[in-house]
Amino acid sequence: MSDGRKAAIFLDRDGTIIEDRGHLRSPGDVHFLPGSLAALQKLSDAFPLFLVTHQVGVARGFLSMNQVAEVNRYLTDALRGHGIELTDVYVCPHAREEGCICCKPSPWFLRRAAEEYGLDLSRSYMIGDHPHDVFTGTAAGATGIYVLTGHGLRHRSELGEGSRIVVPGIEDATRIVLAETEFSEDNHDSVEEAAFRLRRGGVVAFPTETVYGLGANAYDEAAAARIFAIKERPRFDPLIVHIPDMSWLSKLAGQVPDPARRLAEAFWPGPLTLVLPRLPIIPDLTVAGLDTVALRVPDHPLARQLLARTEVPLAAPSANRFSSISPTEAEHVQQGFEQGVDLILDGGPCRVGVESTIIGFQDDKPVLLRPGGIGLEEIERVIGEPVVREQRNEDAKSSPVAAPGMSRRHYSPKTPMRLFGGGETLPRPPPDKRAGLLVARPRAPEETTGFRLVETLSENGEMEEIARHLFSALRRLDQAGVDLIYAELGTESGLGRAINDRLRRAAADLE
Ligand code: TXA
Ligand code: MG
Repeated sequence: MSDGRKAAIFLDRDGTIIEDRGHLRSPGDVHFLPGSLAALQKLSDAFPLFLVTHQVGVARGFLSMNQVAEVNRYLTDALRGHGIELTDVYVCPHAREEGCICCKPSPWFLRRAAEEYGLDLSRSYMIGDHPHDVFTGTAAGATGIYVLTGHGLRHRSELGEGSRIVVPGIEDATRIVLAETEFSEDNHDSVEEAAFRLRRGGVVAFPTETVYGLGANAYDEAAAARIFAIKERPRFDPLIVHIPDMSWLSKLAGQVPDPARRLAEAFWPGPLTLVLPRLPIIPDLTVAGLDTVALRVPDHPLARQLLARTEVPLAAPSANRFSSISPTEAEHVQQGFEQGVDLILDGGPCRVGVESTIIGFQDDKPVLLRPGGIGLEEIERVIGEPVVREQRNEDAKSSPVAAPGMSRRHYSPKTPMRLFGGGETLPRPPPDKRAGLLVARPRAPEETTGFRLVETLSENGEMEEIARHLFSALRRLDQAGVDLIYAELGTESGLGRAINDRLRRAAADLE
């Protein structure tokens, strides 16, 4: 509990609250970043605020200490005019090589403020657009928040891993600080814990209506790198970014073609992913260097709560090792990863059971990149035109909209698989092999004699039920110690297209 010492907010100046225009010499050089005044008003209602700025121009002879003081005085007065009080202003006028004790990332000013004003640094935040701002905060035992304004985009990769928060700007930083303060005391539940870790670069598995995802802050390059490492996923395979609602399209995507908007309106929240031109706020690594980003609004209460509380979009591939069977229960995630995942949120079995349908756009025309939880027919009904079917990476190597992760072998059990057409008489298991059987609906006992394990996906052949049970049944067959799995293909329409696609990939030979 707090001992009466206050939490405080330490703020970098240039690139964080005002535009970084090089060495600022006079009040005329001060331009507030969009939204920063409103954000600072909210912060100053709840916390003492401190400015911590490094003015190397003084040491280099471009600026006088008087000019710096004049700019800071002007800034302080302008803020006061908006009801924002700065408790103190700290300036380091040295060059790094001078070896002073006040230059970022030294926590010296923060410690001094803590002593002078009775602050609790462990509950305080340092917000800035340079990795040194973040390191200053963490060195003082506070939380560092990195904003992607000013120099932020350019130096993001220098942040490295560690406990710090990466957000687009000071407005987002403010929302997070206020939310954390509200929840930090005794209001801890598992979603809040997950949100707290995700904001700080953690990796958390969470349920969606399709499959479990392995999530990280989509703005945070190092957090995305952790996902690739944990999944052993090749870095050419981009991650889907999960957002709370449609309003986020304009924050992450450049241009949104009209059919994309109509599809989002019709199917979000739900198992549809749209591949759109991206804005640079999403790091290269998250999208594997592509100039597009895959976006989706998941439809699962826990996923939605998590997104709402985390306050950042979540990059999340399915929570399984690369090319193995996707997890549809929390326990599957647990089985897949011995370590590396900070937390697994358990939301029970996934309702849909196969991944989202992925739609890209070529000259504003929709292209199917992966069949999934929403049938192609439904999509075509909404946009009123046929969708180009382009599913296989191999068939479309040069296509700008191909899904790089759609390798032929995927979703695969270790046990070899053989497919047979629905409606055909069942294959007989070879006498010298232990065989398992995956069927869409119940079969007469005499049809299935000789199989070691029979998994029936649905009571009445209903497509939704087949999809829901597909991956967990495949897992059980894979763990049953059989030599061979026979699996029944379904109708090539609606959800059946996704089911057959997953079965074909699961059965593809290793190359
Ligand atoms: O239902 C789902 O979509 C689940 C849940 C967790 O949301 N996620 C999922 O993610 O299936 P993942 O990583 O297993 O599959 C993502 C697919 C990959 O094939 C990837 O190549 C493709 O989406 N993808 C991601 N970003 C892309 C982009 N910018 N352009 C083309 N394809 C992209
Ligand atoms: Mg700065």
